[in-house]
Amino acid sequence: MRAVDIIRAKRDGEALSREAIESFVRGVTDGSWEDYQSAALLMAIVLKGMTADETGWLTDAMARSGDRVILDQIPGIKVGKHSTGGVGDKVSIVLAPLAASCGVVVPKMSGRGLGHTGGTLDKLESIPGFRIALSLEEYKKILGEVGCCLISQTDNIAPADKKLYALRDVTATIESLPLIAASVMSKKLAEGSTALVLDVKCGRGAFMQKPGDARALARALVSIGTAAGLRTEAFITRMDTPLGRAVGNSVEIAECIEVLSGNGPADLSELIVRLASRIVFLGGKAASEQDAAATVRAALTSGAAREKLRQMITWQGGDANVVDDVNRLPSARHSHAVAAPQAGYVASMDALLVGRTAVALGAGRDKKSDPVDLSAGILLRKKPGERVNAGDAIMELRYNDASRLAAALPIAAQAIVVGDTAPADAPLVMGWVHDGGEQMFAATEGTASTDKARERG
Ligand code: URA
Repeated sequence: MRAVDIIRAKRDGEALSREAIESFVRGVTDGSWEDYQSAALLMAIVLKGMTADETGWLTDAMARSGDRVILDQIPGIKVGKHSTGGVGDKVSIVLAPLAASCGVVVPKMSGRGLGHTGGTLDKLESIPGFRIALSLEEYKKILGEVGCCLISQTDNIAPADKKLYALRDVTATIESLPLIAASVMSKKLAEGSTALVLDVKCGRGAFMQKPGDARALARALVSIGTAAGLRTEAFITRMDTPLGRAVGNSVEIAECIEVLSGNGPADLSELIVRLASRIVFLGGKAASEQDAAATVRAALTSGAAREKLRQMITWQGGDANVVDDVNRLPSARHSHAVAAPQAGYVASMDALLVGRTAVALGAGRDKKSDPVDLSAGILLRKKPGERVNAGDAIMELRYNDASRLAAALPIAAQAIVVGDTAPADAPLVMGWVHDGGEQMFAATEGTASTDKARERG
């Protein structure tokens, strides 16, 4: 099929055939489609959308554009996890060893931070010696021995997505629900899990800022996974405020160790227990979600989860002594307190601006090629709802370079609002979308509770 005919059909609002979509993905992978042709089709998709069938075919073709990891030699249900990205989102680094310590195999290929959101790989690289670029053989070996392994995506996992994502990034074609859903799920389908728990972030610091958009993305991801035979569920979780009390790389690893020692911040620990319980249940290691939650809590208090992290770090070449001594992690030379301008309550803390503050300090990157300062970051000494006196430190900025601090300070100041009253409590888990239906725990456009119409029993 000619590229120009496929582009014209989508430009004119037609649904593409499976053959046309496969021809496009083949052309992207083998280079026979020029970038300008791919970009034209991507823009036509942004403007005209895709049907559920087209999105499923696109996902399948991208997943098959490279290697598919086969994990059949490792017994048991393999449960993957993916987050759409947020600020202070270190959940995967805790969840993988926690669920593995409960007996579930958790394969996980992660990404780097881009823009205001942090990346699991950058955080892990702050552990001295930790290797994220493993061969598939090493990955499988560690998964079999330890039960969890966190690595970077190998070059040949969904290579069509890699090329398309790079093109989308520079042609204003990221913002399309079918393209995002196909991009995320093509990688997940290629990774070899047999079940998948997704964390779709929603709010100021997330890709999807409106609950209705997050819900639509969650539905699309779940329906693509389910149609492909992967048991898929999505939680929609609030990302208006950073998760936990640390934002950066080494500071987030230190916080992960606190959570795995049973001492983590309440919001982060709550989310982790919720997601881990679901993973343990889907992994067949508990008869009910309540039993799974009890198993997960026991793994946190007994130290089993922390030992699993130590094991994973050792197998991946890192300094496992960081688990006992976080001072072995890179530490910034300087610290600066952002103080409360008046007494009152922290009324809000904008996750997007906190993420941008962290990037300005050097903890993240604006462009893929930017270096990252693993020790720079932010400690949130107060969070929304907490009382402050005038002059109390709300944020502690950790930095190495004074010019970076100067760039970060005005952003940090804008991120915080101190008012006379505490904000109303808002549930962290806003909704849950699964094959049998969906429950919304926080109001989203059109629906405030269980959506009976979509329930399939
Ligand atoms: N993450 C992805 O992997 N792909 C997208 O398109 C957006 C976020």
